[in-house]
Amino acid sequence: MHETYGDLIRQRKSFRSFRQEPLPEALMEGLIDFLSDLTPPEAEIDWNFDTLPYLDMVKLCSTEPGVKAPCYLILRAERKRFSLQNCGYLGERAVLWLTEQGIATCWQGSVQIRSDADFEGSLPFVTAIALGYSDEPFRKSEAEFDRKPYDKVVFNREEKYRPILELGRLSPSSFNRQPCVFVTDDRQRIHLFRKKSLLPNPVQEFQQCVDAGAAMAHLELGALEQGYTPKFNRMYPMPRFKAGLTYQISVELS
Ligand SMILES: Cc1cc2nc3c(=O)[nH]c(=O)nc-3n(C[C@H](O)[C@H](O)[C@H](O)COP(=O)(O)O)c2cc1C
Repeated sequence: MHETYGDLIRQRKSFRSFRQEPLPEALMEGLIDFLSDLTPPEAEIDWNFDTLPYLDMVKLCSTEPGVKAPCYLILRAERKRFSLQNCGYLGERAVLWLTEQGIATCWQGSVQIRSDADFEGSLPFVTAIALGYSDEPFRKSEAEFDRKPYDKVVFNREEKYRPILELGRLSPSSFNRQPCVFVTDDRQRIHLFRKKSLLPNPVQEFQQCVDAGAAMAHLELGALEQGYTPKFNRMYPMPRFKAGLTYQISVELS
């Protein structure tokens, strides 16, 4: 049976143990085709990806990855405003595609690949995702989620958009910090904001831009599932909501 995006989002979790078993070639080709066909929210920013077995990954990394998975997906992008969010979006779309195939994943924001260690001529590394089979089960119920309550992250709360916003709330984030805030308006739009760190913290900010991209993927899939044709739009002038929040993007629902 074809699972809904909502089902996949509710089943996904971060796995920390993997069977050391290579993934079928056809599956990896399917992943490559899936990712190659995606268009991220800021379509003109150059990006690419690689899938690498663990040992190749270790050779590129400055420190050994935190989880030992048989395969890694790495995402790279030219450094432009919004390229990290694009990679968050692309990575989470890949994660949900893999979830549908029964493949366990874990975002690996702690992984670093310096440009002098990467393949020659590569775009700058952004992030990595570990993947493989696992003996751990997928999530069975929403009660297993550790997330902030709906009314702490969703504002203006247009009730008809609740199924979409709930999926945004369930998006993964680095250290489960959940920096995203969702605000609806009366013009069929959901505006996404990201909480700024209290003190300047470039590493945390970097990861939270990726987090925002993952939330964008959830909003888009939630909107599609509710029968809308969602469109990402970065509005100018930027919508403002509360101090301490940085505007990320709006999803127009038509
Ligand atoms: C951008 C990003 C980076 C992450 N980096 C790591 C990491 O380096 N190591 C790790 O074990 N988990 C990492 N995670 C997974 C989060 O810890 C996890 O998403 C969060 O705790 C929520 O749990 P869940 O994914 O099971 O819903 C990362 C998640 C995101 C979105």
